[in-house]
Amino acid sequence: MNYRHAFHAGNHADVLKHIVLMRVLDYLLRKDKPLAVLDAHAGIGRYDLKGAEAYKTGEWKDGIGRLLAEPLPEKVRALLATYLNIIHDLNPDGAMRFYPGSPEIIERLLRREDRIILNELHPQDADTLTARYSADKRVRVTRLDAAVAVKAALPFAERRGLVLLDPAFEVAGEMEKSARMLDHIIRRMQNTTVLAWYPLKASGDEAPLLTQAAALPCSGTLVAELRVREGFAEGGLAGSGLLVINPPHTLKAELEELLPTLAVRLGIGEWGRGSVRELTPPH
Ligand SMILES: C[S@@+](CC[C@H](N)C(=O)[O-])C[C@H]1O[C@@H](n2cnc3c(N)ncnc32)[C@H](O)[C@@H]1O
Repeated sequence: MNYRHAFHAGNHADVLKHIVLMRVLDYLLRKDKPLAVLDAHAGIGRYDLKGAEAYKTGEWKDGIGRLLAEPLPEKVRALLATYLNIIHDLNPDGAMRFYPGSPEIIERLLRREDRIILNELHPQDADTLTARYSADKRVRVTRLDAAVAVKAALPFAERRGLVLLDPAFEVAGEMEKSARMLDHIIRRMQNTTVLAWYPLKASGDEAPLLTQAAALPCSGTLVAELRVREGFAEGGLAGSGLLVINPPHTLKAELEELLPTLAVRLGIGEWGRGSVRELTPPH
């Protein structure tokens, strides 16, 4: 396992993923009933942008750095308030130094009665996660392959929940593996909300994942994508996408408001494009 998320923390893909995660949690937490969240590829939870890895790539500067470089339109700011507050809490003097990963966002937003499973296969990153979050009684850290973690955690006893699939896509076959995990999740718990991140490249490798997701027996699926640059044949991220299975009914309109600003702020030159569409309609 070579991938370390610390090199990429706060980039355009993180910004899209974490904003969607925050909007979905915001909705799920409105209901007065306990919730379980499985973060199946958790990383280390929060990232020092001045640390050696993030400093080396500087990817965050074209992500969260550009998003926050100028004041945001009022409606966008209101929809992002929870995300911006977390960033502010981590950086009280206003200078961007620490960026929240998905575990940090989940841990800060969930309530006392909720439950959090943070799963990470990389031994060193799993140690960091344990050191940071295991004192929190709501949190359990596991060190499984994500496909095993999904089978172990589902169905949630709470009967309400969210699963985040955020693979590193560093080995062949990750799209197929994500599709299989989605199938397992929905077969075990048809009503759970799932966020599944995927890279957008010139090769269009995501097409089979979307085709298989469209066949899932769930209450609708949204596809949100943010392209930031031209796709090159040699590879490299042109942008990223998120499948949202069993999405909140509020999410599509929120993303229609947010994505144009994300595309303008994070797109390179004229390449910025944001879109949200129903892969399958709600029923
Ligand atoms: C994109 S990063 C996760 C970032 C994190 N979700 C966030 O938003 O802050 C992907 C993580 O998955 C871990 N990983 C890679 N293969 C895995 C596997 N088969 N099962 C579980 N975790 C894996 C990597 O070590 C890496 O930390």
